Amino acid sequence: MGFDRTAEHLIIDPDEIDTELVERAGALLADGGLVAIPTETVYGLGCNALDPEAVKKVFAAKQRPFSDPLIVHVDSAAMVELVVADQLSPTAVRLMEQFWPGPLTIVLPRNDSVPDEISGGLDTVAVRLPSHRVAAAIISAAGVPIAAPSANKFSHVSPTSAAHVFADLGQECDAIVDSGRSENGLESTVVAIDGDDVVILRHGAITMESIANALDGTGRVREPNEPGTSTSSPGHAKKHYSPNAPTLAVTQGLVASLDSQALAALRRRGVLFAGYSDSTATLPEGWQFKSLGSLDDLAGVGHDLYDVLRSVDSDEVSLIVLELTGSDGLGRAIDDRMTRAASSIVIDKPDDLVEAVSS
Ligand code: TXA
Ligand code: MG
Repeated sequence: MGFDRTAEHLIIDPDEIDTELVERAGALLADGGLVAIPTETVYGLGCNALDPEAVKKVFAAKQRPFSDPLIVHVDSAAMVELVVADQLSPTAVRLMEQFWPGPLTIVLPRNDSVPDEISGGLDTVAVRLPSHRVAAAIISAAGVPIAAPSANKFSHVSPTSAAHVFADLGQECDAIVDSGRSENGLESTVVAIDGDDVVILRHGAITMESIANALDGTGRVREPNEPGTSTSSPGHAKKHYSPNAPTLAVTQGLVASLDSQALAALRRRGVLFAGYSDSTATLPEGWQFKSLGSLDDLAGVGHDLYDVLRSVDSDEVSLIVLELTGSDGLGRAIDDRMTRAASSIVIDKPDDLVEAVSS
């Protein structure tokens, strides 16, 4: 084998869970190893959250700065108590009852058993109870909370299949659990709690609207940029989730408004346009187009987004142009990821797009 440290490939069917392989993954984790695990959102790079050495290995494998804290995954409400400091607030309990197990991450005061490295020096810890059956089984087998960032190299596109994880971290993991494609395809929603209010730190698979519904008038849902909201939101680089090829975002409908001259200029430059099947009709033949699905099916768009971003990212493409959804609900998370993939460069005028492409 020499220096080849390629990860063990553990294929576990969620509908017919192989308990031996689950035990193997759990034992590696309990032992301080790095195991990539499937979740309902994206694949995570798991380690024992209570083992500072294992946590440091995760940061090293991802080349991630310590200022960007990790999410701790639990298998039960009882396991939450291993990492949080105080009694849970009524708002936290309400969110857990409503959305767990599932793609909602809640930031809570942490206790001393959480290694400093996990929380980037903050006095909080982000916790989530995944609904993925294989993730839940592996956490239970490990018997400890599992810290797991998305299993990609820092600032690259998050993985929604085991193949994506092998491509980014095949040499760094002890094992990669393969349960097929991730159901949501977008990361969990991250929230902080401020009294009766809930502050969205990262839009994600659970929409702002459904959180507002769950609060049922007892509190408000706020965005972090709202005046008066000071809750810190680390790890939110303007460039994140990015393909290797240069990437721009355009507002919804911009491409449909391009004239033939502008389209010709873009085509000459080898631009690949990723937009919606709804808008293909306006593109002339021969255009490099990749469909993200239909705007009428945002769940489908979210499911495929990262896979599309990875698949179009090749040497033949000189520039990727992503069309935002301009929608609320899941559209907020999709547009957030596309905007970051584009290093926060969003173009809203045809002339500006032609100029950006020509420069
Ligand atoms: O869906 C997900 O959340 C996936 C799967 C694997 O669970 N995980 C994930 O982890 O997306 P990661 O590391 O890529 O993103 C974690 C983000 C951080 O960048 C930060 O914004 C937020 O969660 N976070 C973590 N701990 C926090 C804390 N103590 N306070 C505020 N934000 C925190
Ligand atoms: Mg990530």
